[in-house]
Amino acid sequence: FDVLIQRSVKAFRSKRLALPPNSSVGFVPTMGALHEGHLSLVKEAKAKNDIVISSIFVNPTQFGPNEDLDRYPQQLQEDASMLEDLGVDLIFAPDRDEMYLENHTTFVTPEVFEMTAEGKARPGFFTGVATVVTKLFNVVQPTNAYFGQKDAVQCCVIKRIVKDLNIPTNVVIMPTVRESDGLAMSSRNAYLTVEERSVAPVVFKSLLAGEQVWLDGGRVANKEQIVAEVEKVLKEEPMMTEIEYVSVDSNINMLPIDSVDADGCCLSLAVKCGEVRLIDNIVFGVA
Ligand code: PAJ
Repeated sequence: FDVLIQRSVKAFRSKRLALPPNSSVGFVPTMGALHEGHLSLVKEAKAKNDIVISSIFVNPTQFGPNEDLDRYPQQLQEDASMLEDLGVDLIFAPDRDEMYLENHTTFVTPEVFEMTAEGKARPGFFTGVATVVTKLFNVVQPTNAYFGQKDAVQCCVIKRIVKDLNIPTNVVIMPTVRESDGLAMSSRNAYLTVEERSVAPVVFKSLLAGEQVWLDGGRVANKEQIVAEVEKVLKEEPMMTEIEYVSVDSNINMLPIDSVDADGCCLSLAVKCGEVRLIDNIVFGVA
């Protein structure tokens, strides 16, 4: 995979410059351990662009001190082979110190998103995401960049940094890809034990139950009623050891709303299944 994988900014840039001028470049940033969710973004990028570039980088600045940075799954060769099969033209897979020099001091802080449910649960997380994605955009210079709805606040953050910082990239959001039993695909699902994996679909079921409350209530159910139903379904499963949050937010900016309005809502949650943190969301009520 030596021709495909570039490990330094310098090597990547020279390959990037050698691409036919004026070709559209689709970009899919990832942290590797690829699954069908990631691959759906790559396929869309391939369908809509002349050139497709993906990055694989486990970004240390988006991991909290007690999070799983050192055990995050790594499988570069396997990932590269999947990307090659889909016709990806270049992979940027830098080492940690290539992206963050010892004296790194500049961060991109999307302040308002620290106030979202996910932002409050993971202080500093979106600064890490916004910083690395800004850096990746500067290196890759994509025409279009592809992100998954699975990470709902992240989608809002990326759209906002592109606007706020005048980055000439079009941001495209793709639907969440699920296992056949409804569990949203995630690299972290690999941490689940067989038993935990068998009960994990309750996460998606609880979100659907929340939406059902809203539908049954003639589309006027308020936030409290929706949240209560989601929590009830989750609590019926003893292996869901902790509900971090269940939140009803504006689908536009992921900030709290009292009831579902014409812009629609994003019902999102974070739970611990045993030791594994799972997040998921659904959007409904979009006019
Ligand atoms: P990672 O978790 O590897 O995800 C890379 C991209 O795949 C993100 O846009 C994410 O939303 C999308 N994705 C993950 N699971 C998905 C699923 N089940 N269906 C559809 N899309 C899915 O998100 C990150 O990495 C990082 O924060 C990153 C943006 C690369 C910055 O470090």
